[in-house]
Amino acid sequence: MKIAAIVGSLRKDSFNMRLARYMQEQFKHKLDIEILKIHELPFYNQDIELDPPESVKIFKHKVSMADAVLWITPEYNYSIPGVTKNAIDWLSRVDKVMKGKPSWILGSSMGFLGSVRAQLHLREILFSPSIASPFYPGNEVYIGTAHEKFNEHGELIHEPTKQYLKTVTDHFIEWMESGSWRFSTSSR
Ligand code: FNR
Repeated sequence: MKIAAIVGSLRKDSFNMRLARYMQEQFKHKLDIEILKIHELPFYNQDIELDPPESVKIFKHKVSMADAVLWITPEYNYSIPGVTKNAIDWLSRVDKVMKGKPSWILGSSMGFLGSVRAQLHLREILFSPSIASPFYPGNEVYIGTAHEKFNEHGELIHEPTKQYLKTVTDHFIEWMESGSWRFSTSSR
């Protein structure tokens, strides 16, 4: 199963990027996860949407070829980071490659709530008509106090979180394989 991962943090030591790399490595026998380069995307501009830069074309093509998109989000000021919204805005226009494509959301933050408010906003955006992405509804993943769950080498060391991620991943794969996401109300 091919998964396009969109990670909403550009910083070198990002916990969310570490989480993305953990998912990529840990579940490589089940999922082919590619972390997309959203830092190469320019700011969305309607003037250039019909003939966008190569980075946008490649990004949209990779999303269109994926079976699902994995959003891994920090929380910035109670919402998703601007880089994630920028990526969504590109995806929502012209060929609208997200329409009907399933989404899966994970997130972490250094606070206790583990990106819950950002994820709620993200779910709302995924419902919007030009995105219309059915998202995996179960096993929400909010990894709070991230700085206590990854070590100085960037490795996830918190066993209950690792176990939970395994359970969630298995359930996500079951959901994808069942095809039930096709009947989600967000798939318009
Ligand atoms: C934050 N942070 C944060 N945390 C949170 O729980 N709720 C919030 O609203 C915010 N807001 C916020 C805004 C901005 C601009 C920054 C830089 C940070 C803290 C944030 O969760 C923490 O820095 C994470 O480590 C960011 O994710 P990465 O970069 O580690 O993936």
